[in-house]
Amino acid sequence: MGLVYPFPSLKTSVAAKEIRLENCLGKTVLVVGSGGREHAIVDALSRSPQVSKIYCAPGNAGIGEKAFNLALKDTDVEGLKAFALENKVDLTVVGPEASLAAGIVDAFRQEGLAIFGHTKAATAIESSKEFAKELMAKYDIPTAAYCSFSDFEEAVAYVSARPFPAVLKYDGLAAGKGVVIAQDLDEARRALADMLLDKSFGDGRVVVEDFLTGPEFSFLCFVDGERVYPMPLSQDHKRAFDGDKGPNTGGMGAYTGLPFITEEDRRFAYEEILCKTAKAMVSEGLPLSGVLYGGLMKTPQGIKVIEFNARFGDPETEVVLPLLKSDIYDIFEGVAMGNPVKEPLWDDGVTLGVVLASKGYPGAYEKGFDILGLEALDAKVYHMGTGIRDGRFFTSGGRVLMIVSGGKDLADAREKVYREIEKLSCENLYYRKDIAHIAFE
Ligand code: AMP
Ligand code: GLY
Repeated sequence: MGLVYPFPSLKTSVAAKEIRLENCLGKTVLVVGSGGREHAIVDALSRSPQVSKIYCAPGNAGIGEKAFNLALKDTDVEGLKAFALENKVDLTVVGPEASLAAGIVDAFRQEGLAIFGHTKAATAIESSKEFAKELMAKYDIPTAAYCSFSDFEEAVAYVSARPFPAVLKYDGLAAGKGVVIAQDLDEARRALADMLLDKSFGDGRVVVEDFLTGPEFSFLCFVDGERVYPMPLSQDHKRAFDGDKGPNTGGMGAYTGLPFITEEDRRFAYEEILCKTAKAMVSEGLPLSGVLYGGLMKTPQGIKVIEFNARFGDPETEVVLPLLKSDIYDIFEGVAMGNPVKEPLWDDGVTLGVVLASKGYPGAYEKGFDILGLEALDAKVYHMGTGIRDGRFFTSGGRVLMIVSGGKDLADAREKVYREIEKLSCENLYYRKDIAHIAFE
């Protein structure tokens, strides 16, 4: 399958980084971001025969094996732009939404620098829930019925007349706490008072929408205006513990090869949701030029949009990009320059990835524990929150590592990934044992 690469030892990978540097004719790429998602992007770029040098800002300890990490924040637009100009960066690839929302794409394009990512204005498809809902209503893109409010009494009147549970979404940055699923009117009143009267998150509006049911999944596409290149579908596991129990996290694992999605479902989602949305954004004068991530749900009434993101998902990217057989540089460059891209080719196997998190995450946790055995793993290893001292990795974040295996089917990939994880030793990590459980029920 060509999916599983042994994790390179520090020594070999530093040597590999140097050898690639001798190929001066190759392209220089700057990746912006610091998580497992950016590690997967750097890894995919490192497989491109055209790419000779990769910088990552700020990167992380694992990324440092394949790229040169820079001491620049992902939102330091001026610093990143100056670096790209000075170092003759051929192409910049943006991971986080915060960088897009800070206007990195607009600033780079003004200088004539090639960059993969959406303009600040187009990023509204993720940063404003109201913008996304209005777009879907206007262009007949399937999503939950909704109404948005700035007035508390009007919001309460609307929610009282709708079925429960009700979904209340603060329309702005809320550090992942802006969505409340209210089971009854009392709970809805309290949440609305918190958002609209006490303004706990700021002065934003609230979108109130109907509660939908069904399995959620992620559909990521590379988008350049009306050109939409689909990636394999994936599913994230947001809860901390087995059986989808416990608090919400940034994602505890993901897999491709979704057993509950038919080819007809996929075609519908591609044509009626992703392509239609790309076209709608062009009609609105806000063409997309990066990744459009549909957070979708397969409801009894068909596939509907829960949310859009304007970037690669994390941890979805870590299971999707290892399947890419085409040269990712061609895709990034084509989209960044507005040129058509050859339809990307994907391996027809599947992938399954498990996140190793610090005990206590997503609450308080300790850091600084050595991670032993990484070099012996026969799997892809993406770093999310690690540090390095004396040539040895240690835990330095909530989500620490993601281990990904490929296989001919999910049972095969699952068996491999959990077998490899057993080889690691670190006293302060935990992980879910049931990634892709829906496939085995
Ligand atoms: P969002 O930030 O919009 O992705 O919402 C966070 C999570 O809340 C989603 O991943 C869903 O699990 C849940 N959610 C959001 N909207 C709905 C809805 N209309 N019906 C059911 N669950 C929802
Ligand atoms: N996997 C969820 C996200 O990237 O937002």
